[in-house]
Amino acid sequence: MPTPQATPTLSDSMLPTLHWTEEKQLRTALWRSERGAAPPKRLVLADDTLSADSAYRQACEGTGLLWRGDFQNARLLLQALTRRIDKPPKASKTAKMGRKKALAQTETGVPSGEAFHLYRQAKAQRARVLGMVLIEFGADYAIALRRAPDAKQACVEAWGPAEESSGPSVASLRELMGVISAHEWRKKGVEIPALTSAGSAIAKAAPNNRIYPHYGVFSPVRGEYVDLVAKAPLPKKRPAKFVAFDIGTGTGVLAAVLALREVDQVVATDQDERALACAKENIYKLRLPNPVKVMQADLFPEGLASVIVCNPPWLPARPGSPLEGAVYDEGSRMLLGFIKGLAAHLAPGGEGWLILSDFAEHLGLRTRDELLAAIAGGGLKVLGRMDVKPEHPKAVDASNPLAEARAKEVTSLWRLGAV
Ligand SMILES: C[S@@+](CC[C@H](N)C(=O)[O-])C[C@H]1O[C@@H](n2cnc3c(N)ncnc32)[C@H](O)[C@@H]1O
Repeated sequence: MPTPQATPTLSDSMLPTLHWTEEKQLRTALWRSERGAAPPKRLVLADDTLSADSAYRQACEGTGLLWRGDFQNARLLLQALTRRIDKPPKASKTAKMGRKKALAQTETGVPSGEAFHLYRQAKAQRARVLGMVLIEFGADYAIALRRAPDAKQACVEAWGPAEESSGPSVASLRELMGVISAHEWRKKGVEIPALTSAGSAIAKAAPNNRIYPHYGVFSPVRGEYVDLVAKAPLPKKRPAKFVAFDIGTGTGVLAAVLALREVDQVVATDQDERALACAKENIYKLRLPNPVKVMQADLFPEGLASVIVCNPPWLPARPGSPLEGAVYDEGSRMLLGFIKGLAAHLAPGGEGWLILSDFAEHLGLRTRDELLAAIAGGGLKVLGRMDVKPEHPKAVDASNPLAEARAKEVTSLWRLGAV
């Protein structure tokens, strides 16, 4: 069986174009921006003679710097811009006061959510500025710059097969670095201890206990929630055929863990093409003892299941780009959709396993009461809850304005049953 390949979400014919004049010739290229940024309105050619201060000023003004110098120097320039944006000149007294107020809790002791919104605004502005150093790719994704890496395979994995007919394209260096980093993760994979502990069959059957995330697919690097799915007790009532669903499967990691347990069949769904391709590839590579069917669906597949697991994005906010779609859930659409539809898809005696961190509660974006009301409103009761404290570098990084909320974060597996 051939190994499935990632499918790009945007065909080249849908990409905007970018125009500039170079050596008295009008040049055109496709504009690639995964975060959905518009092509810069102004574009200048830039090389090793450009000072970091001048580049920073132009990038802040929204001028694209199409790099024609040494590739490694472009990377150094990006680092210099990053240092400038991360260490802005001393804030005025008024700005400092505003920030302090935003970080402060309201009189009721509940955070206002304002700090989070300011943080995201600052991150978006940072991405805009750092996205102004631009790299041109040939039709085959070759980069014609001195000391440039061969990133063709990484680009194919992120953007789909190179189409000769599409001609050159331009993307930000920052975006390219993300594409290359995703390629490395896809090659080396993420170790998932639960794939060894969930069942013994994997040790004999699978080449290793790794999951290989694709570009743009939620990566289970913070694996503590995966262990919860490996350890949660299965419902006592066992039908003749024990079916489990994994809603929003991403890399397929939770479907794989379920398939190592005493289940007869797992059905994993996702809406995203890249996630579906990634999950299929991981499931294929793991050679699991029980069958896993990966299919496209908005939340639930047809039929009933005795265990239905769902790890929705944890923060109710609008994603800034398709890449953020697995982190931010606008209007809690996925979370509430899962809770609302769960009871109708549970087999008698079945359980829904909702994986959710309380980070949103510590940020003032959702209250515990709202969550409990949604659960009750879905005709569900809480059968139990398993908690784990995430280990995350951001939890101890005091320079991160959300560090306080991160330090308090607990991830839970909520065991839900029909009333
Ligand atoms: C936070 S990620 C979790 C991925 C994976 N289950 C894990 O735990 O690592 C959420 C996933 O849900 C998918 N998703 C979002 N809305 C969905 C929907 N309405 N139906 C199915 N999948 C959805 C996203 O594409 C993403 O892969």
